Amino acid sequence: MDIRGQSIIEAQQFHPELLEELFERADDLQGKHSNRSILCGRRVAMLFYEASTRTRLSFETAVDDLGGTFLSTENAAEFSSAAKGERLEHTARMAAGYADAIVLRHPADNAAAVASDYLEKLRCHVPVINAGCGKLQHPTQALADLYTIRQLLGRMDNFSIAIVGDLAHARTSRSLAYLLAKFHGIRIRFVAPEELAIGRDITAYLTRHDVVYDESHDLAEVIGSVDFIYTTRVQQERFEKQEEYERIKGCFDFTRELVKKMKPGGKLLHPLPINGEVAAEVDFMSQAAYFQQADNGLSVRKALLEMIL
Ligand code: CP
Repeated sequence: MDIRGQSIIEAQQFHPELLEELFERADDLQGKHSNRSILCGRRVAMLFYEASTRTRLSFETAVDDLGGTFLSTENAAEFSSAAKGERLEHTARMAAGYADAIVLRHPADNAAAVASDYLEKLRCHVPVINAGCGKLQHPTQALADLYTIRQLLGRMDNFSIAIVGDLAHARTSRSLAYLLAKFHGIRIRFVAPEELAIGRDITAYLTRHDVVYDESHDLAEVIGSVDFIYTTRVQQERFEKQEEYERIKGCFDFTRELVKKMKPGGKLLHPLPINGEVAAEVDFMSQAAYFQQADNGLSVRKALLEMIL
């Protein structure tokens, strides 16, 4: 499957054969010093309008490790000409004049699609990679999540997973659900307070793709029944009313005692950052797989950049 030159906007773009190809390549590119020259002579622009640790650093490391160069604006909202009123489309066009691909993080749900469509209209064939836009999608995080499941389980089908927390605002949970829908025998259990339930667009998609799922507000009822727990932080910055955030935060906190109730061999995944919803001591438990997941973001992004560029 050839995705050369293609923008990556949403997780639904990936089908199982492409994922397998990508993940096999990520296996080859494991480690922080693969010292290749695959991207020699290629340049990637990192436009980050929102804070990031993993996504920006892993994309930058990926480019560097593959022998390419990158331009980076880590606080584009303040330090690019967006601060002077420049439209995203124009900033993207500028970056496209200097680089061969654009990695974009932005608070607007449709930012990656807007930038990509605008460049196409200008016949400027520079792919845009969605590095987390708004509340809807973070496809490259979902690739790292699914790759980690494949690494831990040895397969990408026939398992159960609880997706827990602020499902209304968690773009990573939504992108992961879209990817999981591509495989057989997966049972998804969504666990969230009523106000933060997963979007009806996702449940409709799962129904259309014959994915078995249910929804619960009771983590205690679900925790011992699944192979993986995927939890996320409650996203304070996406609440319109802060009192609503204060009321809901802490509703699904993972303590050491709670993690011990997971199914034997079960793994706790989290896209990170953690903001108190997983106790510090859980980092040292065998169930915690979130650092492995973050490390995997590097090899998956290397493989993706190689395939696109
Ligand atoms: N998971 C994730 O997107 O982390 P960052 O916000 O640190 O990039």
